[in-house]
Amino acid sequence: MRIYDVIDKKRRGVELTNEEIQFFIDGYMSGAVSDYQAAALIMAICINGMTEKETTALTMSMANSGEKADMSVFGELSVDKHSTGGVGDKTSLIVAPIVASLGCKVAKMSGRGLGHTGGTVDKLESIPGYKIALSTADFFAQVNELGMAIVGQSGNFAPADKKLYALRDVTATVESIPLISSSIMSKKLAAGAKSIVLDVKFGRGAFMHTPEEAEILASNMVRIGRNCGRRMSAVITDMNSPLGYAIGNSLEVKEAIDVLRGESYGDLREICIVLASEMIALVKNISYEESRALVSEAIDSGKAYEKMKEWIAVQGGDVSYIVDSSLFPESSIKVNVYAEKTGYIVSLDAQKIGFISVMLGAGRLLKDDPIDYSAGIMMKKKTGDFVREGEIIAVLHTNKHDAVNDAVKEYLSAVTIIGRQTSLAKSPLVYKTIR
Ligand code: URA
Repeated sequence: MRIYDVIDKKRRGVELTNEEIQFFIDGYMSGAVSDYQAAALIMAICINGMTEKETTALTMSMANSGEKADMSVFGELSVDKHSTGGVGDKTSLIVAPIVASLGCKVAKMSGRGLGHTGGTVDKLESIPGYKIALSTADFFAQVNELGMAIVGQSGNFAPADKKLYALRDVTATVESIPLISSSIMSKKLAAGAKSIVLDVKFGRGAFMHTPEEAEILASNMVRIGRNCGRRMSAVITDMNSPLGYAIGNSLEVKEAIDVLRGESYGDLREICIVLASEMIALVKNISYEESRALVSEAIDSGKAYEKMKEWIAVQGGDVSYIVDSSLFPESSIKVNVYAEKTGYIVSLDAQKIGFISVMLGAGRLLKDDPIDYSAGIMMKKKTGDFVREGEIIAVLHTNKHDAVNDAVKEYLSAVTIIGRQTSLAKSPLVYKTIR
């Protein structure tokens, strides 16, 4: 077989065989296929698409390119969730303890922030002492005893995706549904859980801009997972506005604690209940309604909050910060942002707001930049809220004096307020669920 012929075939729009796809991944990993040949092939895939059979074969070849976690010791109980990334998305910190408190096994590998989106690993590292790296033996032992562990993504899982992702990033081939599907699902399959719930986001702060595109991506990933023997569901959710009120690492941890203590309501709590209910429904093979009742009880009884405390303590974190979240260090500068006019907030640009939090120090501009865990944004008003001119709509937290003026200006440009007579129908948080 020659890679030249495989590229030529895909360029002509002909379906590739499983063997040809495996040949490409093997060759790319060994160095027999060069970056420029791989770039040509992925551009042909981007333009001509892939059939379901091809996408499944590509996903499996990438999943098999490195280490794979064997969760068979947990039988049907292992469950994972994946979000396609957003702003203010701290759902893993809330959903994992809820699901573990109900007897499931969550062995989760999470990432760091990327661009304007935050990462679970950075959020957890804002808790003093929390160990993001565990040996495989300790990771499995903790999941077995406690029901959950969250660690950083190991580079040994789906290394073919790591290599291809870096190539896609610089060849304008990120936005391809078969390539995104196989990238995400190869990592999820290698991570080994029997049941997987996907939170596929659409809107200004997401990879997919419309609900229709998000639905195609979600259906694709659900089918791939099922073809590979996993129980799958996907929730398609709105990421036009940030999720919850807090953006930034320790600010988000504090908000997650509030949700688990039953002290915070609104979009964040609702999305967490939806995701946790989908996970429990898959694992226990019960209806969504039955599952939702269990999840609500786990929060209301304090069971999920107790699980969070146990988890943080077992993974080395100082649990006194969870019990008293005022212990988290605060930024030296807090600046109010005031509404420029009276009316309804009709939009809050999630992507812009994500970048503002990076400017304030909550994310990285360069790969190895340090993070200021205390920096970020506390939103006071969200889309659909009525505000009066001069009212506080957000508080910016930072230790960077020179970032403040631009950040305030940018925040005001991310908010659209329209006249006082206009009332708003809020768009639903969950557009659709694919079961
Ligand atoms: N996240 C991934 O892991 N891969 C993609 O291609 C896009 C989002």
